[in-house]
Amino acid sequence: MKLIQRVISFLLLILGFALPSALFADPGAALFKEKHCVLCHNIHNPGTVFAPACPGLQGVRHRHSKAWIRKWLKNPAAVWAGNDADVQDINARYFRYRGSAPKPRESFMSTIIGKKVVLTDEEIEALIDYLWKL
Ligand code: HEC
Repeated sequence: MKLIQRVISFLLLILGFALPSALFADPGAALFKEKHCVLCHNIHNPGTVFAPACPGLQGVRHRHSKAWIRKWLKNPAAVWAGNDADVQDINARYFRYRGSAPKPRESFMSTIIGKKVVLTDEEIEALIDYLWKL
């Protein structure tokens, strides 16, 4: 093989590895870390060491609509206070996980994130795109 061909194949090989990660880097995945979601949420299992009872987020797209997640990430306290079907479902899962009967409780997410983390509409959309792939 001529040297030039070798150089070209080498460059194509490098591009093949570098391009996909540059083009498809997931801004939502980065925000999930930057905005401290990882403090409480695992993907596959409920909770983290910090917050053992937080829901794991795999399959979250089957549990809520995008419109609901938008409202939730903007203002979890208000959504929680509304006690809609989605909130009741989260609460039922929480108490099933704890092995006790459901009863009204505070939203843990809103007590922390509601006060400290403010998300722009764009950040919320990026996070939803990320959540919808889980
Ligand atoms: C302080 C811990 C904490 C942080 C930080 C946090 N969450 Fe939550 N999240 C919870 C808890 C606990 C729930 C269950 C409802 C509740 O008690 O507030 C929840 C519920 C959810 C749900 C619904 C899950 C389901 O299975 O129905 C989604 C989606 C979600 N959080 C996304 C996020 C995203 C995105 C971030 C980062 C911007 C985030 N959370 C940050 C604790 C947290």
